[in-house]
Amino acid sequence: MAVEIDVRNLTKKFRDITAVEDLTFQVEQGEIMGLLGPNGAGKTTTMRMLSCLLPPSSGSAIVSGNSITDPNGSLEIRKIIGVVPDNVGLYDSLSAVKNLRFYGRMYESPESLIEANIKKYLQLMDLWEARDRPVGTYSKGMKQKVALARALIHDPRILFLDEPTANLDPEATKTIRDLIVSLKEQDRTILLNTHNLDEAQRICGKIGVLKTRLIAVDTPAQLEKSFSGNKVAVQLVEVNDRIMEAVRFLKLGQTVLEGNTIIIDLADPDRDTPSVVNAITAAGGKIRSVNEVKVSLEDAYFKVVKGD
Ligand SMILES: Nc1ncnc2c1ncn2[C@@H]1O[C@H](COP(=O)(O)OP(=O)(O)O)[C@@H](O)[C@H]1O
Ligand SMILES: [Mg+2]
Repeated sequence: MAVEIDVRNLTKKFRDITAVEDLTFQVEQGEIMGLLGPNGAGKTTTMRMLSCLLPPSSGSAIVSGNSITDPNGSLEIRKIIGVVPDNVGLYDSLSAVKNLRFYGRMYESPESLIEANIKKYLQLMDLWEARDRPVGTYSKGMKQKVALARALIHDPRILFLDEPTANLDPEATKTIRDLIVSLKEQDRTILLNTHNLDEAQRICGKIGVLKTRLIAVDTPAQLEKSFSGNKVAVQLVEVNDRIMEAVRFLKLGQTVLEGNTIIIDLADPDRDTPSVVNAITAAGGKIRSVNEVKVSLEDAYFKVVKGD
């Protein structure tokens, strides 16, 4: 598979704030890659650099053979990408149709393609009835959909989507996610920003977990494997410092106390649980129950996101 987006050591600093640091990743043609991270993680900054709206402080990126830092390259990139920015920025006084026609003409797309795509996408997104109303009268979700239609008006082969389902209700979210998957099936390359783990898992072939730096890049299945783990919860009649010390002395993983229950991160519960039980008993602890706790990818993600 051909690499469509090739990012090397990309860094952006705003004065003393490092927005993104040393990002390296590739997106292949026909792939949906998600950049998953909390607010302020650097998702929008990354996308703005890749769509040539913001120069990087250092590092480089090649989009479909063109360098983002080369003036000719960036002109070429702008023609072949479709962007849903984080701030949808439509003309409020114009109708959806007029907004889309305006952008289609800006790309110098053939009129027939513009009109066909306006109809196709407004119908698909359930906006056809409202098509002639000024966009200023639309809900946030409706505007979000028009922004996606606008990104598609010139049939771009690469899409940069910055939280495209952010303001949508569940039904519209499903419509948009299905559309994104169908665009991938047409062999388009998609970079999708999201803070929603479920969204990333559902539609992305690859996920980059971002928090200023890329913490991990992998398929959803691999991430699940490497991020999620196991814990054991040992409930005691009574817990004292001696027992806690005995458990911590085993150096198995993070150990926390909740009420009378000691919760320990274990790499391999089958192997490690007996040592935990032995250590507690030897320290004089009386065990009520021992339970294995599975940690979901969601729990693991929140831990990564919260930890500094
Ligand atoms: N133009 C700017 N000037 C100064 N700081 C900025 C600017 N744009 C973004 N930042 C900072 O960079 C960091 C990343 O922001 P952003 O890329 O918007 O994150 P995300 O899209 O993941 O929420 C934040 O700390 C933000 O405040
Ligand atoms: Mg953002």
